[in-house]
Amino acid sequence: MTIKKLWTKNIKSSGMPEFCSGHHTMTYENLREIVQSKDLKLISELIESMVSGKILILKDTFSKEITRAIKSNTQAFWNRNHSTFHKMNDECPNFHRVIDEETSKKYSIRKVGHTTFFFPWNIDELGVRETIMDRWRVIKEFTGLHPYEYETNIPSEGTCDRIQVVLYPPKCGILETHSDPFHNQLTFASGYLSTRGAKGAYKKGGFYAIGKNGNKIDLEHNIVEGDFAIGLATIKHGVEVIDPDSTKPVDWYGDEGRWFLGLYSNDSDNVKNRKTAKPA
Ligand SMILES: [Fe+2]
Repeated sequence: MTIKKLWTKNIKSSGMPEFCSGHHTMTYENLREIVQSKDLKLISELIESMVSGKILILKDTFSKEITRAIKSNTQAFWNRNHSTFHKMNDECPNFHRVIDEETSKKYSIRKVGHTTFFFPWNIDELGVRETIMDRWRVIKEFTGLHPYEYETNIPSEGTCDRIQVVLYPPKCGILETHSDPFHNQLTFASGYLSTRGAKGAYKKGGFYAIGKNGNKIDLEHNIVEGDFAIGLATIKHGVEVIDPDSTKPVDWYGDEGRWFLGLYSNDSDNVKNRKTAKPA
């Protein structure tokens, strides 16, 4: 039995979950060992738990050195380039965009933040691409893909990888409740680059998923900078507004707020009727 077949079997019998049933925590290193040892019994238990709606939190996925490099290299990129937008085709450069409430209306879901996209066909302006891809390959393998699946694809091939770094600033940073497409990758794959409550970060809001009673389950309190989380893409989830009581002017280019790393294999703009996130 392959990992892919284990997922197919479990999803066939239980269906894709809409709601979060809690979380399961382990270290990233532990997941890597299980995946690389091909321990199908342990892998199968994890798959079963995720198909039942559990979100898998992977502690210590990135060192502080790496999370800091991601943030500071992203800020340096912002300072070298204007906020802009590009369609995901073969000429698409790395780019960043300040998405305020008004710009947010152009997207399928409400998302307010300063977002940055780094693509594998461009030079590594993030500076730590190999470390990120090393973690992503393990997650790809765990979710039934080849570790290098899509990695060297370009948009005209349909599905391509995208590394996203987002600052959700205090006062306005938000991501409405949504579900993500799962035809390319089964799970959302989220890296945490800040710790709620830490000095210079933020105090309120952050990542939640919807439980079966429609309640918002705050997952951020189980998470610190350097952790990672994956959950089936159909589980409704979002980001509660960051520090809504902040009285400071919004600083789109600052340090403060919630920093997030999103790894996603998405349909490029070459795909007819490309699937994107849907409001829940
Ligand atoms: Fe999402």
